[in-house]
Amino acid sequence: MPNPFVIGSGPPGTNYQVMKKAFDEGWGGVICKTLSLDSSKVVNVTPRYAKLRDSNNQVFGWENFELISDRPFETMLEELRRLKQEYPDRVLIASIMEEYNKGAWEEIIARCEEVGVDAFEINFSCPHGLPERKMGMAMGQDPEILGEVCGWISAAATKPVWAKLSPNVTDITIPAHSALDAGCEGVAAINTIQSVMGVNLDTLRPEPTVEGYTTLGGYSYKSVKPIALGKVMNIARTIQHDYAGKDLSLSGIGGIDTGSDAAEFILLGSDTVQVCTGVMIHGYPVVKNLCGGLQSFMKKHNFNSIADFKGMSLPYFTTHSDLVMRQRESLAAKKAKVGLMNDSEWSGDKFVENSESMVGN
Ligand SMILES: Cc1cc2nc3c(=O)[nH]c(=O)nc-3n(C[C@H](O)[C@H](O)[C@H](O)COP(=O)(O)O)c2cc1C
Repeated sequence: MPNPFVIGSGPPGTNYQVMKKAFDEGWGGVICKTLSLDSSKVVNVTPRYAKLRDSNNQVFGWENFELISDRPFETMLEELRRLKQEYPDRVLIASIMEEYNKGAWEEIIARCEEVGVDAFEINFSCPHGLPERKMGMAMGQDPEILGEVCGWISAAATKPVWAKLSPNVTDITIPAHSALDAGCEGVAAINTIQSVMGVNLDTLRPEPTVEGYTTLGGYSYKSVKPIALGKVMNIARTIQHDYAGKDLSLSGIGGIDTGSDAAEFILLGSDTVQVCTGVMIHGYPVVKNLCGGLQSFMKKHNFNSIADFKGMSLPYFTTHSDLVMRQRESLAAKKAKVGLMNDSEWSGDKFVENSESMVGN
């Protein structure tokens, strides 16, 4: 890949035209909108997006309850074939999802491989609509079924497979283990976070409203980045500790909007990074800013490749009790104190200043 920036599965990978645009603008790879064999079961509603804005009207959060691709599988296959013929040196990844049926998984994999895709990303993580059919997040939240289905997929696929995981679990390393133990070559995380965007205080109806009703959606864009970084860090440490020496990869996703965001995901162990909502807000040319920002970071630190700094920040995670020990020793050496010494020092009149005194960034 010419760069680590990959179009995340969603609207930016819905058809030939938009995927072509992504390659033309310089994206390192493209993951198509999630495909299933029978798109006639996929029926979307509108509105299906909602934005969260700050006081300057800047968007920082995005909710959607859009389903997977509603386009005929055969049409999408022909478009993927054409793209691969026109851009043979670019990475084209098929995002796929099926029901709990081994034959269906074998069929979708064989037909995608036949048109020349380079790899698969398995959507075990869409949090809305599809779980009603026991697909997407419903599979990703059940480590046993996830392991079984990943076993079918690994046996059928001759191309690398990433399992795309849901953040809507208590411990994301459990599904990561299931997928990797079953033979997947990598993990992608995160998909969207289950959410309700808000309630309209005039109508008292939750939003976004479709004929007066709504459903739980998936939350993305800048505000999910800290949650995504936490999940990515946990997966990266699992790969480091439990699969040492194995050639596995991690694709970081969630709220990436700048080259600096991407650098953070790579420092926490990602090999590649994906962007979905950021493309919906800024358009495909944003990849130039992303590359420029990442290059500036690399130049500043004299890094020549992604491998030079991948996972470099991981050793600095430790336990809370280790932080206590380190700080105790450091303060004793300096004969200094930082912030409040204990909870009795909080003051009602200086509460905000007290809070500020302990902020680290
Ligand atoms: C409108 C919309 C549609 C999406 N559709 C899919 C999809 O079909 N398959 C999938 O795996 N992820 C889908 N996603 C999730 C994204 O690929 C990504 O995991 C998530 O939005 C977090 O990344 P971001 O903050 O860069 O958007 C969708 C996201 C959005 C906003």
